[in-house]
Amino acid sequence: MIGFRGNLAGEEAAAGIAVGVTEGRGLDGSGRWLVEHLPWLERHLDDAEFTGKSGQIVVVPGGEGAPYRRIALVGLGAEPDFEQVRRAAGGAARALEKMPTVATTLHEYPVPGAAEAVGLGFVLGSYGFHRLKSEPKPSAIATVVLLDGDDGAIEAARRGATIGAGVTFARDLVNTPAMGKSPETLAGIAAEMASESGLRIRVLDEREIEAEGLGGLRGVSLGATNPPRLVELWYEPPGAGAFLAVVGKGIVFDSGGLSIKTAESMETMKTDMSGAAAVFGAMQVIAALGLPVKVLGIAPLTENMPGGSALRPGDVLKARNGKTIEVLNTDAEGRLVLADGLSLAAEQHPDLIVDLATLTGACMVALGEKIAGLFGADAPAARVQAAADAAGERVWRMPLPEDYRKNIDSDVADMKNTGPRYGGAINAALLLKEFAGDVPWVHLDIAGPARASEAEHYLTKGGTGFGVRTLVQLARDMGGMVSPGTE
Ligand code: BES
Ligand code: MN
Ligand code: ZN
Repeated sequence: MIGFRGNLAGEEAAAGIAVGVTEGRGLDGSGRWLVEHLPWLERHLDDAEFTGKSGQIVVVPGGEGAPYRRIALVGLGAEPDFEQVRRAAGGAARALEKMPTVATTLHEYPVPGAAEAVGLGFVLGSYGFHRLKSEPKPSAIATVVLLDGDDGAIEAARRGATIGAGVTFARDLVNTPAMGKSPETLAGIAAEMASESGLRIRVLDEREIEAEGLGGLRGVSLGATNPPRLVELWYEPPGAGAFLAVVGKGIVFDSGGLSIKTAESMETMKTDMSGAAAVFGAMQVIAALGLPVKVLGIAPLTENMPGGSALRPGDVLKARNGKTIEVLNTDAEGRLVLADGLSLAAEQHPDLIVDLATLTGACMVALGEKIAGLFGADAPAARVQAAADAAGERVWRMPLPEDYRKNIDSDVADMKNTGPRYGGAINAALLLKEFAGDVPWVHLDIAGPARASEAEHYLTKGGTGFGVRTLVQLARDMGGMVSPGTE
């Protein structure tokens, strides 16, 4: 865990510094000092064509005359907002990963939430998944010094780091190979987190899943040897006003089942529990921040495997709310387990249900790898959109046209789990809608942004923990707490 302080304490010799630069080479006080005292620096920046464009980064050794061993100049773009500060901090963390202490002035940018963004950016940018390497090379950054930072700035940076810790928790779960996160193991990890965070947890095993009528989750689990679990996490602070329920798809490995995937498309399918990971990470942060909102987190956990007792195309399942689903493609399994998760959430009558799922390749076709699809009625959709925007997670509203519902009409059951290829993300969302009851509901299809195919600013390759920040922001908004944009 990175520590944050307000001044350097004699270890300057080992420190790096990260200085933000706005487009057109706009330097802050520290930047100007460096340029004045290091006569070669300006020429070097010219030669590197460094203008301060967003994402640009130049690292130079301090050498004689500088109190820092390594200097990172990071571009903030023309009009830096707190996402630019987050990205700059993340980029600096990656560029200065060998420095145990990093000083920065990034928190001074006159945008609300800058210090929180610095804390979050440094934690996320120094993330790596090292535990399976025989010679791990984790980031050396242990201390970040917000130069001249007051108590408020330090506290805000620590809050950012707390959010970063939840994202890190989610990333670690996503990056863990399927052989290390059976539903039982994953439920155990959630239970450990719950006891450390003061959350109440209920875990249903395979017998209880059947007894409770969770036919979607049970159906998907039939082809797997490892039994399924359903995790319910409760955060109930005294005096909470609003009540939020979050549901995450937890397919710990998606082979496609009998409608088996190609070898190539299976390569990343350990990440098919990213929705559940986001729920766990967000619950951890919400408890750590003590947000005054009641929150229920639900994660149906199973493998989707093609074993001898696997679900067959044409089988019909009955979900928790009594509705029946004809399974025509066993690879459209996410919506089957979410049907039960959403039903359970709706039974509790929360003010809002948000589900997160790596649900469809079609959503990636529509929006690419970096943007999640957001589905829901106007008011709840606007609410979640605003939270995602403030948190710096990219989402785009998609429609839920009623006349498309017939796409999933079944000859034998209430609905079928696939529709025509076109509009695949919408057809999936329309099925989910059947299980949210009368509760305001938003669905986030995170198939794209749950995973990064390359490192960039505060993202490293692999699991991103997408969704944690949006859910935390949403809980903050619902609890009427300060958000980074209004503090
Ligand atoms: N987990 C996949 C969706 C996915 C694909 C996530 C690629 C991330 C990257 C999901 O279970 C799935 O297989 N969906 C099918 C649905 C189809 C059979 C209707 C898909 O998108 O092809
Ligand atoms: Mn699938
Ligand atoms: Zn899946």
